[in-house]
Amino acid sequence: MEREVRTPIYDYIMRYVRNSPVRMHMPGHKGHGLGGWLATAYPLDITEIPGADSLYEADGVIAESERIAAGLFGSGAVVYSAGGTTLCIQAMLTCMKRERRMIFAGRNAHRTFLNACVLLDLQVEWLYPEDNVLLSGVMTPETIYQALRSAKQPACIYLTSPDYLGGMADIAKIAELCKRFDAKLLVDNAHGAHLAFGPINLHPIALGADLCCDSYHKFLPALTGAACVHCANPEDAPAVRSAMAMFGSTSPSYLILTSMDLCNRYMTNQVRRDLAAVASRIQRLKQNLRQQFVFCHGDIFHITIHAARCGYTGTALGAWLMTQGVQYEYADLDHLILLCSPATPLADLDRLEQVLRSAPFPNTPIPTETIRLPKPPSLLSMRTAAFAASEFVPIEDAVGRICAMTQPPCPPAVPPVICGERIDEHTIVLLRKYEISKIAVVTL
Ligand SMILES: Cc1ncc(COP(=O)(O)O)c(C=O)c1O
Repeated sequence: MEREVRTPIYDYIMRYVRNSPVRMHMPGHKGHGLGGWLATAYPLDITEIPGADSLYEADGVIAESERIAAGLFGSGAVVYSAGGTTLCIQAMLTCMKRERRMIFAGRNAHRTFLNACVLLDLQVEWLYPEDNVLLSGVMTPETIYQALRSAKQPACIYLTSPDYLGGMADIAKIAELCKRFDAKLLVDNAHGAHLAFGPINLHPIALGADLCCDSYHKFLPALTGAACVHCANPEDAPAVRSAMAMFGSTSPSYLILTSMDLCNRYMTNQVRRDLAAVASRIQRLKQNLRQQFVFCHGDIFHITIHAARCGYTGTALGAWLMTQGVQYEYADLDHLILLCSPATPLADLDRLEQVLRSAPFPNTPIPTETIRLPKPPSLLSMRTAAFAASEFVPIEDAVGRICAMTQPPCPPAVPPVICGERIDEHTIVLLRKYEISKIAVVTL
């Protein structure tokens, strides 16, 4: 039976639309669209008028919706973002700066993290995964332990889990260690909002993280830009909210906020059922195709094919899938990533299985070279390098120069080299692998 769930933002907007007042406020479309498929969105696209609450001072319909979300995820408090996970990461790091914590971060961080460090002038001690590769790798509790033991001041650990390929860190064990050292654990859970709703709750907050950010839109049915910060301790929420206000637009999109509100209803009544059905269909797909494809381990909704081990390059397999009407998320020489969510129609997975089964390529593994992450010395702070005078040069001419800024292709948006680091031969190999041909270097 469906449970009655309040959707306070949506309900407010629908009342407003039904009352059809004369709109003497922003936005300029005044509730009237320009036709086409977007027409029904315009009337709902309001701004922070009295009664609609205000995201960064929420105490009305937005605050109520956030409380509903916190109850669903089991967090102490939730703070919404209509500026994606990017804004959440900026807010979490601002809080760490205010607490004067040093930051240890997994090297596979998204470029959003780096940009926030540049803006906030943070220095980072990088933690390298055991297998020392760029996109995905196991961050062992031992690595975390050694980092925390070495810290000379209050610290925080920042991890990305699930990572881009779906790999998961042992958050429970790492959280335990953090508590032992009085350090805070922050998790970029952009790829894992659904983890709260499986048979075992694997959401970082349930496993002991202090702060984590979820993208509602990446793995749940919500509009792009919908995200939130979860606080284990509700007393952290005001600091997170005020930090968000420093970076976020003063005109947050009510369409995005409303989509989170409606997603709360979905999470109450339907997500567990859908998640179980889709997860089991994906499992079956992997089982049925196991002679033909090697699938990487990790979160079930990341269908990550180790293409090279099956005789394809990820990019060639991806290009072929597109000719068959399947759009992938990301492909490189080694991998192909197909992302699902609890809202993926089962019929789409039937079609995907059919298409994959008919893949025409040979089945001889392509030798791939695992490129280890270089650990070049950092000669300038990230901020100094990012704001220094710089020039773009072909990567072959960049050896020995200091990286000013990397704009890795998005996805996966994990920078092979960090601003301030000296570029060496190993870095060039990695840049080439990710098809980055030019790089900004500091001109001194
Ligand atoms: C792991 C990770 N973190 C953060 C982000 C940034 O999220 P958003 O684009 O919602 O701001 C992304 C985007 O893809 C991501 O994959």
